[in-house]
Amino acid sequence: MACSALGNPFLKACEVWHDLLGSPATADFMRRSLDAGVVMDTWLSSHCQGSLTPEARRFLLDTVEGLVLHEPTPFPFLFTSGFQKVALHRILLSTVLRNSENKGEISLAEAQTTASEVRAFAAANGGPLQLVLLYAILVSQENYQALAQHRHLTRRDFILGTRHRPWSDSFGGEELEFGLKVGELEIFAAVNDQHIYLNRRGLDSLQRMEALLAASGWKNWQVEQQNISYIEHVDAQLTDTQAPVDYDVSYHRIATAVAAETTRFLDFSGVGPGMQVLEVGCGTGRMTLDLGLADRVLPEGRVVASDPSLWMLRKFHDKLRKWGGRLPQLTLSLARAENLPFGDAAFDTAVGFTFLPYAADPARAVREMTRVTRPGGAVATAVFLKWDARALAAFHPWLQPLLEIIRTHHPSFEFAGLDAGETADLFRAAGLVDVVTAPFSIPWVVDASRLTRFTMEMTAFSKVHDLLPSVEWRFLLKKLEEDAKTFFSTTSREERTFTVDYERVRGMVP
Ligand SMILES: C[S@@+](CC[C@H](N)C(=O)[O-])C[C@H]1O[C@@H](n2cnc3c(N)ncnc32)[C@H](O)[C@@H]1O
Repeated sequence: MACSALGNPFLKACEVWHDLLGSPATADFMRRSLDAGVVMDTWLSSHCQGSLTPEARRFLLDTVEGLVLHEPTPFPFLFTSGFQKVALHRILLSTVLRNSENKGEISLAEAQTTASEVRAFAAANGGPLQLVLLYAILVSQENYQALAQHRHLTRRDFILGTRHRPWSDSFGGEELEFGLKVGELEIFAAVNDQHIYLNRRGLDSLQRMEALLAASGWKNWQVEQQNISYIEHVDAQLTDTQAPVDYDVSYHRIATAVAAETTRFLDFSGVGPGMQVLEVGCGTGRMTLDLGLADRVLPEGRVVASDPSLWMLRKFHDKLRKWGGRLPQLTLSLARAENLPFGDAAFDTAVGFTFLPYAADPARAVREMTRVTRPGGAVATAVFLKWDARALAAFHPWLQPLLEIIRTHHPSFEFAGLDAGETADLFRAAGLVDVVTAPFSIPWVVDASRLTRFTMEMTAFSKVHDLLPSVEWRFLLKKLEEDAKTFFSTTSREERTFTVDYERVRGMVP
């Protein structure tokens, strides 16, 4: 539903919403709410559910009923009473959990204190509807950010939050309605499913929301709650690589050798017990958690794992929780390698596996890794080399339609990857000495069930997204998936294997 259409009954509400997102008063309101300790966080609120006594739970539900405005609101199209209820309930739950400092069961008395604080704050700040507005911004930012990363989500995934809010059993039906009403989400109907995607206007709102959350201090606060530090969130999010939900499984299944090569890389980088280690571009924690970097270094040492993708870090964080919660010597940090939020010589070594080809400025990333490593310490990385997807397409005919588009419209387009020797040159240019390079290769086996999405959304093709209008991209992806089925059923595993060349590079800080 487009807001700009004349005569659209939601036009006014859309404009109100859009104006609110650009208003300093909104940022100020958000800041005041944080200062007053009134918070909203989907992660906190879903964790609170199990901690309340039955009386406290009942009491909070009754409080919500008392706060919801049943009479017409200034934004009748935006905030239905269902939406208001969910919002106020989540605000109360997050706030009471935060106030309880995780001490165990939350009593009726604690719920009562929190409820009166929330009421008092609402009364002094424009009423409960203002709180609903806060909720709408925070939760929309979470949804839109997921859509910006995934390009689209099925209706089911969107509503259940399977991909972007896996910690919660919440129901996002109202959130979807809200996004559709304000003309920022749209539905694309495919054969068997409906896909939700973010239109231009939604993308614009996402940027405004990110700016609001950063300016008001909310983003910092929220990320602290999730035990990750927050740096340079905004630009990193929007230029992020796409990440399918079963990233680890797909990666290891398609490129089986990557596990052994990651271990070899750890040997090569020389990380060991007691060291202060920085991992950049850590992704989901494959190297630090699954393949033993933390085991090699902890408990005497310390690991800081950083990545600019909140999505990746959330996966990392979820894994960590399954491993028994926090590891005090392991910190997650939201940061781009080009701008590391650490002091000079803060680490014994800085390492990163296959992140450099994604960095917007690889030279700066290497300089930053060098800066934060102490004299005598090692900087090490592994990169994949540039590979020409045109050659791949001769090999995999089902990729032809995509390459046709690229060839016609963007003849100078370059696929991701670095040239052989380029990383070593960057290392030397950053002042590193004793630079050593070791080539290796990893066979990638095209897998019917996983490859299309995974390949299209990663490596060489991640850059292609930006070239195509999103509708064209969606149709193309669908066509490729259909063609791929034929391809997979008529070829052998060997015929579906292609080899990607890599380099390990290490240098020492003089
Ligand atoms: C192919 S994944 C590799 C993840 C992880 N190192 C592994 O081996 O599983 C690439 C990672 O680089 C990250 N990345 C993208 N741009 C980056 C940048 N400018 N600085 C640091 N990391 C970046 C992505 O978010 C993603 O997690």
